[in-house]
Amino acid sequence: MSSDSDLATQATCNDASTCKRYAVQKGYWNDPYISHMVKSVGSRKPPEINRGYYARVESVWILIKKFIHATERKCQIVSLGAGLDTTFWRLCGEELSPIRYIELDFPNVTMRKVQTIKSKTLLTQAFNTSENDTKIETSSIISNKYSLLPADLRDIELVEKQLKLAQIDFTIPTLFLTECVLVYMSSKNSNAILKWVTTNFENCMFVNYEQVNMNDRFGHVMIENLKSRDCDIPGVDVCESLESQRKRFQENGWDQVNCITMWSVYSILPQSDVQRMERLEFMDEQELLEQLLTHYCLCWATKAGESFNLKEIEL
Ligand SMILES: C[S@@+](CC[C@H](N)C(=O)[O-])C[C@H]1O[C@@H](n2cnc3c(N)ncnc32)[C@H](O)[C@@H]1O
Repeated sequence: MSSDSDLATQATCNDASTCKRYAVQKGYWNDPYISHMVKSVGSRKPPEINRGYYARVESVWILIKKFIHATERKCQIVSLGAGLDTTFWRLCGEELSPIRYIELDFPNVTMRKVQTIKSKTLLTQAFNTSENDTKIETSSIISNKYSLLPADLRDIELVEKQLKLAQIDFTIPTLFLTECVLVYMSSKNSNAILKWVTTNFENCMFVNYEQVNMNDRFGHVMIENLKSRDCDIPGVDVCESLESQRKRFQENGWDQVNCITMWSVYSILPQSDVQRMERLEFMDEQELLEQLLTHYCLCWATKAGESFNLKEIEL
């Protein structure tokens, strides 16, 4: 049984995916799969929200592609709290798919995603090979290339069990993604995930996107907004500063840790595309964007990064 707070947490994937779909429809970035995954574009979103999502999706995408190139595609990607994310299909569309792509989320979310994937040939054909290795059940998909499994990420033994079911290989370079996920669990639980990864994988990388600088007025308003929707955010203490975000990785076995605000990210994204994107919609107040983006951060960390030059990976 899910608690009210867990249900509210699960519902956050609707916001993320409708905002992404809205921005894609406006031309912020290209994603031919999102309209198949998500029905609604929801109500109009202001330009600063669209630009924020652009910076989030583009920066994570750049790091993923660099990881894939560094490992010459002989790697795995594990998306924790994947929601209705379409990265796997975008990678396949660019012939960049890793050996294995695994997604975990709460059962309610994976059940919904399985139903959608099952009903769209465009989505199933990406992993449904002629070898007939695919097993689709109510809330899970297991195949050689792509697996989607239910798990509460706060239960690390269950996470390990589900990843083993998805035939995870502990010997190849593996990238873990958490996009707006860790804040929904206590630091004890997020530490357990980060530690489990460095304990079990030789060569690995972690990309985390989430809130930061939560101790000022704007941060408090963000926290109140989440709380007013019944969302429990026990991980907010780690979102206090870039330093607290970095420390969490350093204390859990990660050798090389980078953590910058999304406002810094915005200034180092490929500027020709940023200029194209900024022409899409007129934005009145630059300060609003700056305020928003200084309250989110991107962290990427590696362990044993020398082997595949993982530690050289930069935005
Ligand atoms: C804001 S959404 C982000 C979804 C996706 N990462 C994205 O960026 O589009 C947060 C996701 O994390 C999942 N999540 C949060 N806590 C979780 C937990 N303890 N176990 C499994 N999934 C969790 C939620 O169900 C939801 O799908």
